[in-house]
Amino acid sequence: MFAQNGPIAVFDSGYGGLTVLNHMHKTLPEYDFIYLGDNARTPYGTRSFDVVYQYTLQAVKKLFELGSPLVILACNTASAKALRNIQQIDLPQLDASRRVLGVIRPSVEAIGALTQSRHVGIFGTVGTIQSESYPIEIQHLFPDISVTGEACPMWVPLVENDEADKPGADYFVRQHIQALLKADPNIDTAILGCTHYPILKNKIEEWLPQRVTLVEQGEIVANSLKDYLKRHPEMDARCTRNALCRYYTTESAEKFKRSAGVFLNDEIEVEKITL
Ligand code: DGL
Repeated sequence: MFAQNGPIAVFDSGYGGLTVLNHMHKTLPEYDFIYLGDNARTPYGTRSFDVVYQYTLQAVKKLFELGSPLVILACNTASAKALRNIQQIDLPQLDASRRVLGVIRPSVEAIGALTQSRHVGIFGTVGTIQSESYPIEIQHLFPDISVTGEACPMWVPLVENDEADKPGADYFVRQHIQALLKADPNIDTAILGCTHYPILKNKIEEWLPQRVTLVEQGEIVANSLKDYLKRHPEMDARCTRNALCRYYTTESAEKFKRSAGVFLNDEIEVEKITL
C-alpha cells in the first residue's frame, strides 16, 4: 500500500510542465510537490493515442507509488489523449480515492470571459490539435465561440533544445501565427495550448498582432487547483505542506538539472527513475 498523504504531483513529457509548477508554487507556497518529466520519451506531441495513453498511465502509477494523492497532467497532449481513459478506466482499479486532473478544462473555462469577437485560436502539438479536445470542450461550455487550431510541431523541440531565444525560432513562430490568422482573421484570443510554449512567449508576442490576446495556462491551472482543493477538503487534507519539491526525470538527472535552468531560477535536486 502506498502512502495515503503526500505531495501534489505535476507530470509532463519533458520540461514544459515546469511553467505550470512555477505558478503552483506561487499560488500554493506551503504545499509539497513532486515533478516528473518523461524526458527520455519526449516529445509526446507526435505520438499516437495509444502510446501517449500507455506512457501517461505508467507515469501516473509511479506518482501514486511515490505517495501522491493528486496528479496534475501539466501536459496538453497527455490531457487530450490519456486523461479521460485514466479517469474512467484505470483510476477505479488503481485507487479510487486518488485523483488525476488535466490542463485543458481549466483553460477552456477561462476563455469565455476573454474573447470579445468569439473567435479563438489554439496553438498546440499535433496530438492536441488532432484530438479536437479544445473545440469539443469549448463547444460544450461556449457554443457561440468558433475555434481554430494550429499544430506547431517544431515549437517543443525549439524549447527542449534551448533554441527558444535564438534567431532560428523566429521562422517557425511567424509561420504558425500567420497560418492561424489566415485561417481565421477574426481571432482576438489565442491559447498557448502546450505547456512548453510560454518559454517562446517573447518571440510569439513579437509576431502576434497586438489585437490578439495571448493566454498562458500556468496561472489559470494554478488558480483552478487552488479552487479544487477548496472544494474538496478531503483531498486537501491529504496534500502535505512542508513547502518541499522533488524532481524526477526518466533521462539523466544532470541533464535535467542543466536544462531546467531555462524554466526555474533555483538550484534543484533531481533523481532519475524508470517508468
Ligand atoms: N508540454 C506538452 C503539452 O503541453 C507536450 C510536449 C510534447 O510534445 O511532448 O502538450
